[in-house]
Amino acid sequence: MCSFCYITEVLEDQRVATSIKAFIFDLDGVITDTAEFHYLAWKQLAEEEGISFTREDNEQLRGVSRRESLNRMLKGRPIDDVTANLWMERKNVYYKEFLHQITPDHALPGVPHFLTAARNAGILIGLGSASKNARDVLERLELRNAFDAVGDGYSVVNSKPAADLFIWVAGRLNVTPQQAVVFEDAEAGVEAALTGGFWTVGIGSANVQKAHLLTDGIGSLNVETVISRMG
Ligand code: BG6
Ligand code: MG
Repeated sequence: MCSFCYITEVLEDQRVATSIKAFIFDLDGVITDTAEFHYLAWKQLAEEEGISFTREDNEQLRGVSRRESLNRMLKGRPIDDVTANLWMERKNVYYKEFLHQITPDHALPGVPHFLTAARNAGILIGLGSASKNARDVLERLELRNAFDAVGDGYSVVNSKPAADLFIWVAGRLNVTPQQAVVFEDAEAGVEAALTGGFWTVGIGSANVQKAHLLTDGIGSLNVETVISRMG
């Protein structure tokens, strides 16, 4: 084989190995904004239990599991497992009440268009959300069919900032982390994506600066630009 042919073949292989095949989205703060509902539900529980809980406190809960959210809300107060489970169930009842308000209009600006454009470009679409309510939220947004794989709070044991959930979703989509871009608005989620070796887009004003590409929202992105900036 001529050396030029060999080099061309190697470059082709690299391109195939690193070309982007999938987008994996966080839900809360990326596809829709449920942070306010989480805040109001935790606040109701906190007030009933005489614990102070502010919007600023709520920012620390972004992207982390329900149990870790409770820990952060308690700020070091001890709690036994039975009480913790009862409190989490109560918070979830309050949260689910708020979810009734969600309609397709609650998708963040540009999201349905971006999902359609990505699918038309042959990109597989996955969800990687820490929330056990993720499927319910997707149904209410009427976006369930836009996703080829859905990973939620039931999919893995170790939640973000562990990489497990994104790796689980990549597995369902049959792509490697190097072939997938994760879209995240939370520090824990960006850390999870980077730890897993994913290309990462950081969204919004939280601590997402370590991501490969930063944006204020999906609506400001273009599918081709994302693909060309990664891989
Ligand atoms: C994440 C949210 O998506 O899901 C967190 O960003 C939330 O704030 C977590 O705590 C778990 O959600 P749920 O619906 O299972 O209580
Ligand atoms: Mg989020």
